[in-house]
Amino acid sequence: MEHREGRPLIDRVRLARTFYQRYGREPRLFRAPGRVNLIGEHTDYNDGFVLPMAIDRETVIAGAARDDRRVRVYSLNADEAVEFDLDHPGEKQRGIWLDYVEGVAQSLLGRGVRLKGADLAVLSDVPVGAGLSSSAALEVSAGLAFVSLSDQQLDRVTLALAGQQAEHVYVGTMCGIMDQFVAALGREGHALLIDCRSLEATLVPLDTSETAIVVCDTNVKHELSSSEYNARRAECERGVEMLREMMPGIRALRDVSVAEFAQHEERLPETIRRRCRHVVTENERTLSAARALQDGDLKEMGRLMYASHRSLRDDYEVSCRELDVLVEIAESLGGVVGARMTGGGFGGCTVNLVRREALGEFEQVVSREYTRATHLNPTIYVSEAGGGAKEIKDS
Ligand code: GLA
Repeated sequence: MEHREGRPLIDRVRLARTFYQRYGREPRLFRAPGRVNLIGEHTDYNDGFVLPMAIDRETVIAGAARDDRRVRVYSLNADEAVEFDLDHPGEKQRGIWLDYVEGVAQSLLGRGVRLKGADLAVLSDVPVGAGLSSSAALEVSAGLAFVSLSDQQLDRVTLALAGQQAEHVYVGTMCGIMDQFVAALGREGHALLIDCRSLEATLVPLDTSETAIVVCDTNVKHELSSSEYNARRAECERGVEMLREMMPGIRALRDVSVAEFAQHEERLPETIRRRCRHVVTENERTLSAARALQDGDLKEMGRLMYASHRSLRDDYEVSCRELDVLVEIAESLGGVVGARMTGGGFGGCTVNLVRREALGEFEQVVSREYTRATHLNPTIYVSEAGGGAKEIKDS
C-alpha cells in the first residue's frame, strides 16, 4: 500500500533539470492534482451536487514564455515532444495527450485570455485511465501555466471551465465540471461540496486521524467508458424533457426531489426511469453525506456510500464486475466504514473509508480476494485530501 506522508510527490528537480537541458532556460513550475469523488456520481452534468477531494498525486508543468506564438511541449512520462501554433489550431480529437494541452490553450484564447507562446515540460504521477482525473490535472496545470506565463489573471472557476471545454471540444467527452473544479480549487484536509449549477463550493473538513481514505484501482478500463458516458448524459436530458410535461418549471434533474420523482416516475420508460432515479437519489445522498461528515457521523456516511454504489450498479449501470468485487470484499470487512465506485465507472477505482487499525488487514484481504476473483492485481493507495492548482515557488 502506498502512503505519501507529506513528501513532495513529483521529482521537481528532475523536471526543472530536464526543462533546462531541453530549452536552455530556467522554468517556473505549476501543479494540479488528481481527484477522488467521495459521493455524488454522474450528478455534475445534471446541475447537481458532488463531493470530491483532491488527492496527493499531481501533474507538474515546467514552463517559460516565448516571444512568438509557438508552444513546444515535452512529456517526460511519454518521452515525447510535440509542437503547435496558437494561431493555427490543430485537428481536434486525435486521441493523444496533446489534445488536453492544445484544447485548454484554445479554450483560454476563446475566452479572450491573451496567451503567449510557451515552452513546457510535463511530469505526472496521476495514473492514466484509472478514473482519478489525470486529464483534468493536465488541463488545469497546463491552463494555469499558460495564463501565468502570459502575465494574465484568471479566476479559478473560469480556469476549471476552460479545462472542461477542452474536454468537450478537443477530447470529445461531454464531462461535467467536477474534475476540473476540484483540480483547480481543492483544499488540503477538505472535500468540496460543489453545487454544479451555481459553481459554488462549500469546504467540508475531513478528519482522517482515525479513518483513512483508501483508493483501490481495479486496473481495468473497459472500452465503453466514453460512449456510454455520453449516452447516459443524453438519457438524463431525455428524462428532463419527459418530466417537464408534469413539472414545467424544471431545467435539470437537480430540480426534481425524491418525493416529486416518486409521484411521476411511472410515466417514464423503464431505462430512463432508472437513470433519473439514480441522479435524483444521488443528489439527496450527496447533501446528506456532506452533513454526515460535518457531524462526524461516519456510520451514516458509509451507509450512503454503499447505497450510492448500488444505485450506480443497478439503476445507472456504469459499474462493472471488477468494481463490484472490490466493493463486496470491502463490505465484508469489519474495519471498513463505506465503499463505492468512484468516477465515471466501467473500471477505474473504488473509494473506501477504512479505520486506520484495519488498514493492514484491508490491504491483505482486498489484494488476495480481488486477485482470486479476477486474476488481476489491484493497486491500493491511502490519500489525504490535498490542495488545488498553484504555482510552486518553494523548490
Ligand atoms: C467523469 C467526469 C465527471 C463526472 C464523473 C461521474 O469523471 O469527468 O464530470 O461526470 O465522471 O460522476
